[in-house]
Amino acid sequence: MSDEPSLRPAVVVVGASRGIGKAIAGVAARDGATVVLVARSEEHLAAVAAELQKGDREAFVFALDLMEEDASRRLEAFLSENSLFCDVLVNSAGYGLRGSAAVLPADDQLGIVDLNIRALAALTLCFLPDMVARGRGGVINLGSVASFTPGPFMALYYASKGFVRSFSEALYEELHRTGVTVTCVAPGPVATEFLQRSGANRAALFKVLPKLDSDYVAECAWRGFKARRRLVVPGLSSKLAVLITRLLPSALVLPLVGRLQRRSKDICP
Ligand SMILES: NC(=O)c1ccc[n+]([C@@H]2O[C@H](COP(=O)([O-])OP(=O)(O)OC[C@H]3O[C@@H](n4cnc5c(N)ncnc54)[C@H](OP(=O)(O)O)[C@@H]3O)[C@@H](O)[C@H]2O)c1
Repeated sequence: MSDEPSLRPAVVVVGASRGIGKAIAGVAARDGATVVLVARSEEHLAAVAAELQKGDREAFVFALDLMEEDASRRLEAFLSENSLFCDVLVNSAGYGLRGSAAVLPADDQLGIVDLNIRALAALTLCFLPDMVARGRGGVINLGSVASFTPGPFMALYYASKGFVRSFSEALYEELHRTGVTVTCVAPGPVATEFLQRSGANRAALFKVLPKLDSDYVAECAWRGFKARRRLVVPGLSSKLAVLITRLLPSALVLPLVGRLQRRSKDICP
């Protein structure tokens, strides 16, 4: 950790231009935090910052593609240029794709590994050592109820969320006596652009499950993190979905999830 008496703590939210990340940035700012908003679209980030600044909150904007090799280093440099340090990291950037793994373009699927897994792990590992040295702060990682089961026809997305939960829960256990908290948030479907962009909104599974409000998910995430919780599953419907995946054998859950997510043009051997 560098000598940092003049640095101020910030909540760094990646994926803050819309959806759950934007909502968590709002909750953190209302709680008095200085927030750093990170995503690719500078225009959207500037609009989010302007909204927060109206309420007299301090918000910085950093346009960054997390798929770039040196993204963590560039974010670190941005923070020190602005005399800030990452007190809390919120990993909310992510995407999914619905369809058969044999049909979807391989590069688009591998992008899920690059963003949901590699970028999330890289950012976490970048900021964790200084958090531990300070004995404060932590990480909020966006998992999903999808982290509790394999997901045929969204295979890489579900697998990526399995990684996020496993990684986060392991870090929680490693670090919870250091004063640093790692919280995994695992919501069911949330009413954001994610559902259209991934194609999940057209799957029967996502049609039957009620959609959570992103502000509600953000409140649960922030409250859960501050209460030093390992896992936050917002809402009754998400808790029920988790319970079902835990109670039923995989031999039943796998074909059920597959049937509810399949599209007619998918290859179904
Ligand atoms: N919505 C749901 O139903 C749901 C349920 C459970 C879990 N989750 C998880 O919650 C997280 C947030 O989802 P959401 O619903 O808020 O999705 P969203 O509305 O699609 O927002 C995704 C965010 O990620 C950013 N992003 C995407 N690619 C990026 C890149 N290469 N570099 C930097 N930023 C990037 C986007 O900004 P730019 O496009 O401007 O870069 C945007 O701010 C995701 O990890 C998702 O898997 C979502």
